[in-house]
Amino acid sequence: MTDSANSPVAASEPKTVPPFAVVPGAQVQQVLEGREKQVVELVEQTYRVHGAGDSVNPPSYFLRFPDRPASRIIALPASVGGDVGVDGIKWVSSFPDNVASGIPRASAVLILNDRATGYPFACMEGSVISASRTAASAASAADWLSRGRGRPRRIGFFGVGLIARYIHAFLDATGWSFDEIGVYDSWSENAEGFKGYLERSGTAANVTVHDSPEQLIRSSDLVVFATVAAQPHVHDVTWFAHNPLVLHVSLRDLAPEILLASTNILDDVDHCLKAGTSAHLVEQMVGHRDFVDGTLADVMAGKVSLPDDRPVVFSPFGLGVLDLAVGKYVYDEVARSGQLRVVEDFFSELKRYG
Ligand SMILES: NC(=O)c1ccc[n+]([C@@H]2O[C@H](COP(=O)([O-])OP(=O)(O)OC[C@H]3O[C@@H](n4cnc5c(N)ncnc54)[C@H](O)[C@@H]3O)[C@@H](O)[C@H]2O)c1
Repeated sequence: MTDSANSPVAASEPKTVPPFAVVPGAQVQQVLEGREKQVVELVEQTYRVHGAGDSVNPPSYFLRFPDRPASRIIALPASVGGDVGVDGIKWVSSFPDNVASGIPRASAVLILNDRATGYPFACMEGSVISASRTAASAASAADWLSRGRGRPRRIGFFGVGLIARYIHAFLDATGWSFDEIGVYDSWSENAEGFKGYLERSGTAANVTVHDSPEQLIRSSDLVVFATVAAQPHVHDVTWFAHNPLVLHVSLRDLAPEILLASTNILDDVDHCLKAGTSAHLVEQMVGHRDFVDGTLADVMAGKVSLPDDRPVVFSPFGLGVLDLAVGKYVYDEVARSGQLRVVEDFFSELKRYG
Protein backbone atom coordinates (compact mmCIF):
# COMPACT_ATOMS: atom_id res chain seq x y z
CA MET A 1 0.00 0.00 0.00
CA THR A 2 1.26 3.47 -0.77
CA ASP A 3 0.28 6.84 0.60
CA SER A 4 1.28 8.73 -2.57
CA ALA A 5 -1.12 11.53 -3.60
CA ASN A 6 -1.80 9.73 -6.87
CA SER A 7 -2.59 6.35 -5.36
CA PRO A 8 -6.12 4.90 -5.58
CA VAL A 9 -6.20 5.10 -1.77
CA ALA A 10 -5.59 8.87 -1.82
CA ALA A 11 -8.00 9.35 -4.72
CA SER A 12 -10.79 7.63 -2.84
CA GLU A 13 -10.29 9.63 0.36
CA PRO A 14 -13.56 11.18 1.44
CA LYS A 15 -14.24 14.66 0.11
CA THR A 16 -15.26 17.49 2.38
CA VAL A 17 -17.41 20.53 1.74
CA PRO A 18 -15.14 23.59 1.74
CA PRO A 19 -16.01 26.61 3.90
CA PHE A 20 -17.75 29.42 2.05
CA ALA A 21 -16.31 32.92 2.32
CA VAL A 22 -17.43 36.37 1.21
CA VAL A 23 -14.61 38.65 0.08
CA PRO A 24 -15.71 42.30 0.02
CA GLY A 25 -14.25 44.97 -2.26
CA ALA A 26 -12.25 46.57 0.53
CA GLN A 27 -10.28 43.33 1.02
CA VAL A 28 -9.84 42.94 -2.75
CA GLN A 29 -8.44 46.47 -3.01
CA GLN A 30 -6.19 45.94 0.00
CA VAL A 31 -4.60 42.93 -1.71
CA LEU A 32 -4.30 44.43 -5.18
CA GLU A 33 -3.05 47.92 -4.36
CA GLY A 34 0.69 48.08 -4.94
CA ARG A 35 0.72 44.61 -6.56
CA GLU A 36 0.27 45.80 -10.16
CA LYS A 37 3.47 44.11 -11.39
CA GLN A 38 2.44 40.77 -9.90
CA VAL A 39 -1.02 41.10 -11.47
CA VAL A 40 0.49 41.81 -14.90
CA GLU A 41 2.75 38.74 -14.54
CA LEU A 42 -0.23 36.64 -13.47
CA VAL A 43 -2.30 37.85 -16.41
CA GLU A 44 0.55 37.08 -18.83
CA GLN A 45 0.96 33.63 -17.30
CA THR A 46 -2.79 33.04 -17.67
CA TYR A 47 -2.70 34.08 -21.34
CA ARG A 48 0.07 31.50 -21.81
CA VAL A 49 -1.93 28.79 -20.01
CA HIS A 50 -5.01 29.66 -22.10
CA GLY A 51 -2.92 29.77 -25.31
CA ALA A 52 -1.56 26.29 -24.47
CA GLY A 53 -5.12 24.95 -24.13
CA ASP A 54 -5.06 24.34 -20.35
CA SER A 55 -8.30 26.23 -19.76
CA VAL A 56 -11.99 26.11 -20.53
CA ASN A 57 -13.47 29.44 -21.51
CA PRO A 58 -16.87 29.09 -23.21
CA PRO A 59 -18.53 32.07 -24.90
CA SER A 60 -19.76 34.80 -22.57
CA TYR A 61 -23.53 34.85 -22.15
CA PHE A 62 -25.15 38.25 -22.66
CA LEU A 63 -28.39 38.99 -20.79
CA ARG A 64 -30.01 41.97 -22.52
CA PHE A 65 -33.28 43.78 -21.80
CA PRO A 66 -35.69 44.98 -24.52
CA ASP A 67 -36.89 47.80 -22.24
CA ARG A 68 -33.32 48.86 -21.24
CA PRO A 69 -31.26 48.41 -24.42
CA ALA A 70 -28.18 50.24 -23.12
CA SER A 71 -27.77 47.83 -20.20
CA ARG A 72 -26.61 44.22 -20.00
CA ILE A 73 -25.40 41.58 -17.58
CA ILE A 74 -22.75 39.14 -18.79
CA ALA A 75 -21.92 35.68 -17.44
CA LEU A 76 -18.34 34.52 -17.95
CA PRO A 77 -17.91 30.91 -16.78
CA ALA A 78 -14.40 29.51 -16.98
CA SER A 79 -11.89 27.02 -15.69
CA VAL A 80 -8.20 27.76 -15.52
CA GLY A 81 -5.46 25.17 -15.15
CA GLY A 82 -1.74 25.74 -14.71
CA ASP A 83 -0.65 26.72 -11.20
CA VAL A 84 -3.99 28.44 -10.54
CA GLY A 85 -6.41 25.48 -10.81
CA VAL A 86 -9.84 26.91 -10.17
CA ASP A 87 -13.29 26.94 -11.79
CA GLY A 88 -15.91 29.66 -11.47
CA ILE A 89 -17.91 32.45 -13.04
CA LYS A 90 -17.96 36.22 -13.24
CA TRP A 91 -21.40 37.85 -13.34
CA VAL A 92 -20.88 41.45 -14.43
CA SER A 93 -23.46 44.18 -15.06
CA SER A 94 -23.02 47.18 -17.30
CA PHE A 95 -25.56 49.95 -16.68
CA PRO A 96 -24.08 53.03 -18.40
CA ASP A 97 -26.79 55.35 -17.02
CA ASN A 98 -25.44 54.77 -13.49
CA VAL A 99 -22.64 57.22 -14.25
CA ALA A 100 -25.05 60.18 -14.39
CA SER A 101 -25.96 59.40 -10.76
CA GLY A 102 -22.31 59.30 -9.76
CA ILE A 103 -22.04 55.51 -9.33
CA PRO A 104 -19.91 53.18 -11.46
CA ARG A 105 -21.28 51.71 -14.67
CA ALA A 106 -20.08 48.19 -13.91
CA SER A 107 -20.70 45.99 -10.88
CA ALA A 108 -19.81 42.34 -10.48
CA VAL A 109 -19.44 39.27 -8.35
CA LEU A 110 -16.95 36.50 -8.93
CA ILE A 111 -17.71 32.97 -7.72
CA LEU A 112 -14.85 30.51 -7.21
CA ASN A 113 -15.65 26.77 -7.31
CA ASP A 114 -13.66 24.00 -5.66
CA ARG A 115 -12.18 21.62 -8.23
CA ALA A 116 -12.65 18.52 -6.07
CA THR A 117 -16.30 18.92 -5.06
CA GLY A 118 -17.66 21.61 -7.38
CA TYR A 119 -18.80 23.56 -4.33
CA PRO A 120 -18.56 27.34 -4.56
CA PHE A 121 -16.10 28.41 -1.86
CA ALA A 122 -15.98 32.17 -2.37
CA CYS A 123 -18.19 35.02 -3.50
CA MET A 124 -15.97 37.99 -4.20
CA GLU A 125 -16.59 41.61 -5.15
CA GLY A 126 -15.75 41.38 -8.84
CA SER A 127 -15.57 44.88 -10.29
CA VAL A 128 -12.13 45.71 -8.89
CA ILE A 129 -10.79 42.31 -9.98
CA SER A 130 -12.30 42.87 -13.42
CA ALA A 131 -10.89 46.39 -13.79
CA SER A 132 -7.50 45.22 -12.54
CA ARG A 133 -7.22 42.28 -14.93
CA THR A 134 -8.37 44.53 -17.79
CA ALA A 135 -5.76 47.14 -16.94
CA ALA A 136 -3.07 44.49 -16.44
CA SER A 137 -3.89 43.04 -19.87
CA ALA A 138 -3.65 46.54 -21.40
CA ALA A 139 -0.31 47.22 -19.70
CA SER A 140 1.02 43.88 -20.87
CA ALA A 141 -0.16 44.52 -24.43
CA ALA A 142 1.38 48.01 -24.40
CA ASP A 143 4.69 46.44 -23.39
CA TRP A 144 4.76 43.47 -25.78
CA LEU A 145 3.29 45.29 -28.77
CA SER A 146 5.63 48.29 -28.56
CA ARG A 147 8.80 46.20 -28.48
CA GLY A 148 10.64 46.92 -31.70
CA ARG A 149 8.86 50.21 -32.37
CA GLY A 150 10.08 52.24 -29.38
CA ARG A 151 8.16 52.95 -26.20
CA PRO A 152 5.44 55.53 -26.86
CA ARG A 153 6.01 58.86 -25.06
CA ARG A 154 2.61 60.34 -25.97
CA ILE A 155 -0.51 58.53 -24.75
CA GLY A 156 -4.10 59.47 -25.55
CA PHE A 157 -7.10 58.29 -23.52
CA PHE A 158 -10.29 58.16 -25.59
CA GLY A 159 -13.21 57.77 -23.14
CA VAL A 160 -12.13 58.34 -19.56
CA GLY A 161 -14.09 56.45 -16.93
CA LEU A 162 -12.95 53.91 -14.36
CA ILE A 163 -11.24 51.59 -16.83
CA ALA A 164 -9.11 54.42 -18.27
CA ARG A 165 -8.09 55.34 -14.71
CA TYR A 166 -7.08 51.75 -13.92
CA ILE A 167 -5.12 51.47 -17.18
CA HIS A 168 -3.22 54.66 -16.40
CA ALA A 169 -2.51 53.44 -12.87
CA PHE A 170 -1.25 50.05 -14.11
CA LEU A 171 0.98 51.66 -16.76
CA ASP A 172 2.37 54.03 -14.16
CA ALA A 173 3.02 51.24 -11.65
CA THR A 174 4.77 49.06 -14.24
CA GLY A 175 7.35 51.65 -15.20
CA TRP A 176 5.75 53.68 -17.96
CA SER A 177 6.15 57.45 -18.08
CA PHE A 178 4.95 59.89 -20.69
CA ASP A 179 5.82 63.37 -21.96
CA GLU A 180 2.26 64.03 -23.10
CA ILE A 181 -1.06 62.65 -21.92
CA GLY A 182 -4.05 63.51 -24.11
CA VAL A 183 -7.62 63.19 -22.91
CA TYR A 184 -10.82 63.08 -24.95
CA ASP A 185 -14.33 62.27 -23.77
CA SER A 186 -17.70 63.08 -25.24
CA TRP A 187 -18.66 64.53 -21.83
CA SER A 188 -16.38 67.44 -20.99
CA GLU A 189 -17.08 66.97 -17.23
CA ASN A 190 -15.60 63.46 -17.47
CA ALA A 191 -12.54 64.75 -19.34
CA GLU A 192 -12.00 67.37 -16.62
CA GLY A 193 -12.55 64.76 -13.89
CA PHE A 194 -9.90 62.50 -15.43
CA LYS A 195 -7.51 65.45 -15.83
CA GLY A 196 -7.97 66.14 -12.11
CA TYR A 197 -7.16 62.49 -11.34
CA LEU A 198 -4.01 62.66 -13.49
CA GLU A 199 -2.83 65.81 -11.74
CA ARG A 200 -3.41 64.27 -8.30
CA SER A 201 -1.53 61.13 -9.44
CA GLY A 202 1.61 63.27 -9.62
CA THR A 203 2.27 62.65 -13.32
CA ALA A 204 5.12 64.69 -14.76
CA ALA A 205 3.47 64.63 -18.22
CA ASN A 206 1.81 67.56 -19.90
CA VAL A 207 -1.92 66.88 -19.74
CA THR A 208 -4.09 68.20 -22.59
CA VAL A 209 -7.85 67.86 -22.89
CA HIS A 210 -8.64 67.69 -26.60
CA ASP A 211 -11.94 68.82 -28.00
CA SER A 212 -11.80 66.62 -31.07
CA PRO A 213 -11.16 62.88 -31.45
CA GLU A 214 -8.96 63.58 -34.48
CA GLN A 215 -6.63 65.82 -32.46
CA LEU A 216 -6.32 63.21 -29.71
CA ILE A 217 -5.48 60.37 -32.09
CA ARG A 218 -3.09 62.32 -34.30
CA SER A 219 -1.13 63.51 -31.25
CA SER A 220 -0.80 60.09 -29.53
CA ASP A 221 1.56 57.16 -30.19
CA LEU A 222 -0.41 54.97 -27.77
CA VAL A 223 -4.20 55.37 -27.93
CA VAL A 224 -6.48 53.77 -25.32
CA PHE A 225 -10.15 53.40 -26.22
CA ALA A 226 -12.34 52.95 -23.13
CA THR A 227 -15.70 54.37 -24.18
CA VAL A 228 -19.10 52.69 -24.02
CA ALA A 229 -19.78 53.10 -27.75
CA ALA A 230 -22.01 50.38 -29.18
CA GLN A 231 -21.04 51.04 -32.80
CA PRO A 232 -17.99 52.38 -34.62
CA HIS A 233 -17.66 56.16 -34.45
CA VAL A 234 -14.05 56.54 -35.66
CA HIS A 235 -13.87 56.00 -39.41
CA ASP A 236 -11.00 58.06 -40.83
CA VAL A 237 -7.95 55.91 -41.57
CA THR A 238 -5.78 59.00 -42.14
CA TRP A 239 -5.99 59.87 -38.40
CA PHE A 240 -3.79 56.78 -37.86
CA ALA A 241 -1.18 57.67 -40.52
CA HIS A 242 1.53 57.90 -37.82
CA ASN A 243 1.02 54.16 -37.04
CA PRO A 244 0.13 54.32 -33.35
CA LEU A 245 -0.33 51.38 -31.02
CA VAL A 246 -4.05 51.22 -30.18
CA LEU A 247 -5.49 49.44 -27.14
CA HIS A 248 -9.08 48.96 -28.28
CA VAL A 249 -10.37 47.95 -24.86
CA SER A 250 -13.96 49.03 -25.56
CA LEU A 251 -13.91 46.91 -28.76
CA ARG A 252 -16.57 48.73 -30.82
CA ASP A 253 -15.12 52.18 -31.54
CA LEU A 254 -13.14 51.56 -34.73
CA ALA A 255 -14.67 51.19 -38.18
CA PRO A 256 -13.72 48.04 -40.12
CA GLU A 257 -11.52 50.00 -42.55
CA ILE A 258 -9.22 51.00 -39.68
CA LEU A 259 -8.75 47.40 -38.54
CA LEU A 260 -8.17 46.36 -42.15
CA ALA A 261 -5.33 48.90 -42.40
CA SER A 262 -3.73 47.67 -39.14
CA THR A 263 -1.98 44.70 -37.57
CA ASN A 264 -4.64 43.04 -35.41
CA ILE A 265 -3.79 41.25 -32.19
CA LEU A 266 -6.61 39.75 -30.08
CA ASP A 267 -6.74 37.98 -26.73
CA ASP A 268 -8.78 35.06 -28.15
CA VAL A 269 -9.89 34.89 -31.76
CA ASP A 270 -13.19 33.02 -31.33
CA HIS A 271 -14.26 35.25 -28.46
CA CYS A 272 -13.35 38.50 -30.11
CA LEU A 273 -15.18 37.77 -33.37
CA LYS A 274 -18.55 37.90 -31.62
CA ALA A 275 -21.07 40.28 -30.10
CA GLY A 276 -20.76 43.06 -32.68
CA THR A 277 -17.16 44.01 -31.89
CA SER A 278 -15.31 45.92 -34.60
CA ALA A 279 -13.36 42.74 -35.39
CA HIS A 280 -16.65 40.87 -35.71
CA LEU A 281 -17.90 43.54 -38.15
CA VAL A 282 -14.74 43.10 -40.23
CA GLU A 283 -15.26 39.34 -40.41
CA GLN A 284 -18.87 39.87 -41.50
CA MET A 285 -17.74 42.38 -44.13
CA VAL A 286 -14.85 40.43 -45.67
CA GLY A 287 -16.09 36.89 -44.96
CA HIS A 288 -12.81 35.58 -43.51
CA ARG A 289 -10.40 35.97 -40.59
CA ASP A 290 -7.20 36.65 -42.49
CA PHE A 291 -7.03 40.17 -41.06
CA VAL A 292 -6.28 38.68 -37.61
CA ASP A 293 -2.53 38.47 -37.11
CA GLY A 294 -2.57 36.51 -33.84
CA THR A 295 -3.12 36.61 -30.13
CA LEU A 296 -1.12 38.31 -27.41
CA ALA A 297 0.04 34.83 -26.33
CA ASP A 298 1.36 34.32 -29.90
CA VAL A 299 3.26 37.61 -29.64
CA MET A 300 4.72 36.60 -26.27
CA ALA A 301 5.80 33.28 -27.80
CA GLY A 302 7.54 35.09 -30.69
CA LYS A 303 5.15 33.60 -33.27
CA VAL A 304 4.00 36.94 -34.72
CA SER A 305 6.11 39.81 -35.95
CA LEU A 306 4.76 43.32 -35.86
CA PRO A 307 5.62 45.60 -38.79
CA ASP A 308 6.23 49.21 -37.72
CA ASP A 309 4.76 50.72 -40.89
CA ARG A 310 1.10 50.27 -39.93
CA PRO A 311 -0.95 50.78 -36.77
CA VAL A 312 -1.16 47.90 -34.28
CA VAL A 313 -4.61 47.37 -32.74
CA PHE A 314 -5.05 45.17 -29.66
CA SER A 315 -8.67 44.06 -29.15
CA PRO A 316 -9.11 42.16 -25.86
CA PHE A 317 -12.53 40.58 -25.51
CA GLY A 318 -11.84 40.03 -21.83
CA LEU A 319 -11.50 36.41 -20.75
CA GLY A 320 -13.13 34.83 -17.70
CA VAL A 321 -9.89 32.92 -17.05
CA LEU A 322 -8.22 36.23 -16.17
CA ASP A 323 -10.88 37.07 -13.57
CA LEU A 324 -10.49 33.62 -12.03
CA ALA A 325 -6.71 33.81 -11.90
CA VAL A 326 -6.72 37.26 -10.26
CA GLY A 327 -9.65 36.30 -8.01
CA LYS A 328 -7.87 33.15 -6.78
CA TYR A 329 -4.72 35.20 -6.11
CA VAL A 330 -6.74 37.64 -4.00
CA TYR A 331 -8.53 34.81 -2.19
CA ASP A 332 -5.23 33.08 -1.35
CA GLU A 333 -3.72 36.32 -0.02
CA VAL A 334 -6.76 37.05 2.17
CA ALA A 335 -6.74 33.44 3.44
CA ARG A 336 -2.99 33.64 4.16
CA SER A 337 -3.52 36.77 6.22
CA GLY A 338 -6.15 34.95 8.32
CA GLN A 339 -8.80 37.52 7.40
CA LEU A 340 -11.21 35.32 5.41
CA ARG A 341 -14.82 36.09 6.31
CA VAL A 342 -16.32 32.62 6.34
CA VAL A 343 -20.12 32.38 6.39
CA GLU A 344 -20.82 29.61 8.90
CA ASP A 345 -23.45 27.03 7.86
CA PHE A 346 -23.73 28.46 4.35
CA PHE A 347 -24.17 24.91 3.07
CA SER A 348 -26.49 23.30 5.57
CA GLU A 349 -28.17 20.36 3.81
CA LEU A 350 -25.24 17.98 3.90
CA LYS A 351 -26.62 14.58 5.00
CA ARG A 352 -27.93 12.48 2.13
CA TYR A 353 -30.81 10.96 4.05
CA GLY A 354 -31.22 13.66 6.68
N1 LIG B 1 -12.20 44.31 -23.03
C1 LIG B 1 -12.29 44.12 -21.74
O1 LIG B 1 -11.75 43.17 -21.18
C2 LIG B 1 -13.05 45.11 -20.92
C3 LIG B 1 -13.13 44.94 -19.53
C4 LIG B 1 -13.79 45.89 -18.77
C5 LIG B 1 -14.39 46.97 -19.40
N2 LIG B 1 -14.32 47.07 -20.76
C6 LIG B 1 -14.96 48.17 -21.47
O2 LIG B 1 -14.32 49.38 -21.13
C7 LIG B 1 -15.22 50.43 -21.41
C8 LIG B 1 -15.12 51.53 -20.37
O3 LIG B 1 -15.56 51.07 -19.12
P1 LIG B 1 -15.72 52.09 -17.89
O4 LIG B 1 -16.13 51.27 -16.72
O5 LIG B 1 -14.54 52.96 -17.79
O6 LIG B 1 -16.99 52.93 -18.39
P2 LIG B 1 -17.45 54.38 -17.89
O7 LIG B 1 -18.89 54.49 -18.22
O8 LIG B 1 -16.98 54.60 -16.49
O9 LIG B 1 -16.62 55.38 -18.82
C9 LIG B 1 -16.79 55.45 -20.20
C10 LIG B 1 -16.43 56.86 -20.64
O10 LIG B 1 -16.49 56.92 -22.07
C11 LIG B 1 -17.13 58.13 -22.45
N3 LIG B 1 -17.70 57.92 -23.77
C12 LIG B 1 -18.77 57.14 -24.09
N4 LIG B 1 -18.95 57.14 -25.43
C13 LIG B 1 -17.97 57.93 -25.95
C14 LIG B 1 -17.60 58.28 -27.27
N5 LIG B 1 -18.27 57.84 -28.33
N6 LIG B 1 -16.53 59.09 -27.43
C15 LIG B 1 -15.82 59.53 -26.36
N7 LIG B 1 -16.12 59.22 -25.09
C16 LIG B 1 -17.17 58.41 -24.89
C17 LIG B 1 -18.15 58.39 -21.35
O11 LIG B 1 -18.52 59.75 -21.29
C18 LIG B 1 -17.39 57.91 -20.11
O12 LIG B 1 -16.64 58.97 -19.52
C19 LIG B 1 -16.61 49.78 -21.55
O13 LIG B 1 -16.96 49.73 -22.91
C20 LIG B 1 -16.40 48.39 -21.06
O14 LIG B 1 -17.26 47.45 -21.64
C21 LIG B 1 -13.66 46.18 -21.51
